[in-house]
Amino acid sequence: MSSPVRVAIVGATGYTSLELLRWLLRHPLVRVTVLSSRKPEQPISEIFPELLGRIDLPIEPFDSRIIAQKADVAFLCVPHASAMQYAPELLAAGGRVIDLSADYRLKDAGLYEKWYKHTHTDVQNLEHAVYGLPDLFAEQIAKARLIANPGCYTTCAILPLSPLVKAGVIDPHDIIVNAASGISGAGRNPTPQHHFPERNEAFEAYAIGTHRHAPEIAEGIRLGSGVQVGITFVPHLVPMDRGILSTIYTRPAGGCTVEAALDIWRRTYAESPFIRIRTGIGPSTKYVLNTNFLDMAIYSYEKRWVIVSALDNMVKGAAGQAIENMNIAFGLPWSAGLN
Ligand SMILES: NC(=O)c1ccc[n+]([C@@H]2O[C@H](COP(=O)([O-])OP(=O)(O)OC[C@H]3O[C@@H](n4cnc5c(N)ncnc54)[C@H](OP(=O)(O)O)[C@@H]3O)[C@@H](O)[C@H]2O)c1
Repeated sequence: MSSPVRVAIVGATGYTSLELLRWLLRHPLVRVTVLSSRKPEQPISEIFPELLGRIDLPIEPFDSRIIAQKADVAFLCVPHASAMQYAPELLAAGGRVIDLSADYRLKDAGLYEKWYKHTHTDVQNLEHAVYGLPDLFAEQIAKARLIANPGCYTTCAILPLSPLVKAGVIDPHDIIVNAASGISGAGRNPTPQHHFPERNEAFEAYAIGTHRHAPEIAEGIRLGSGVQVGITFVPHLVPMDRGILSTIYTRPAGGCTVEAALDIWRRTYAESPFIRIRTGIGPSTKYVLNTNFLDMAIYSYEKRWVIVSALDNMVKGAAGQAIENMNIAFGLPWSAGLN
């Protein structure tokens, strides 16, 4: 058997890091060798007590040379604008990088700056970054050194929509994505509006017209289909720990039937181990909880098709998809460690 892929996690004290560790510690072809954060010295099991007895690595300060020596790939689990400070050094040191932040997702640095209100400081690597949606871009991911892991809402919208837009069976200018997310989507450090008394028993739409996943959804569909789309994206927060459910309103085009649209999905995702097309009981966050599955279904209603999709934001929406990307980039079986 070949030697395991050695993994470093930067930003090891956050939620996506914890989720990566939960899966990577069971992955048969991987060894976690470096955990790094701005608060070094503590063992990881003091930060995440559930890891006691499972991994005893200390947390180290970030050092790209040490990571290059000890690891083959680094997962960046840090906020946007921080990832692009770490990635250039790691790439220059010869490593591969899977970035869970948004820093390398939008190809146009101007669009990034407009939505994220930060100057993009690593345009050189942005050019080579591959958008890490394995179900659509596995060939590019296999050759990539820098993978931009997609957002959670965006994965839940792009995967059902892209094949239908590409096939011309829905109107690309009349798409409404209503999506509701659990609170872990906001990360581990609560802001006042993510505090328990604010969120408990509260279901709320937010960031209407300003959410940063809106341009990423349009960009991901364009990359997958070659078509520029018009999307109205309305995110909601729902008092659950984790999970996203998207209800997507579209208009069928060209006389296509739902059955033919389902066949387009089946053909596009024939090789995808984690996409489940539902035709009976519809998608629910419950059915994908703690799994890497994305479930999706289409319903015909009056003159519209209503598409419903669901995933776990911490798994297919973050850590699980990042592991899919690693598996593909290192020539491992696509679903290794994720079942
Ligand atoms: N949560 C989700 O569902 C989800 C889904 C998809 C993508 N993402 C993306 O994944 C990344 C990590 O998300 P998360 O949910 O794990 O967030 P998180 O729980 O807030 O953790 C982020 C970690 O990054 C470190 N950090 C914070 N500010 C930093 C800075 N300025 N420079 C360097 N490190 C910093 C912190 O660790 P220290 O303070 O110990 O250094 C923190 O523990 C984010 O970019 C997020 O947008 C999250």
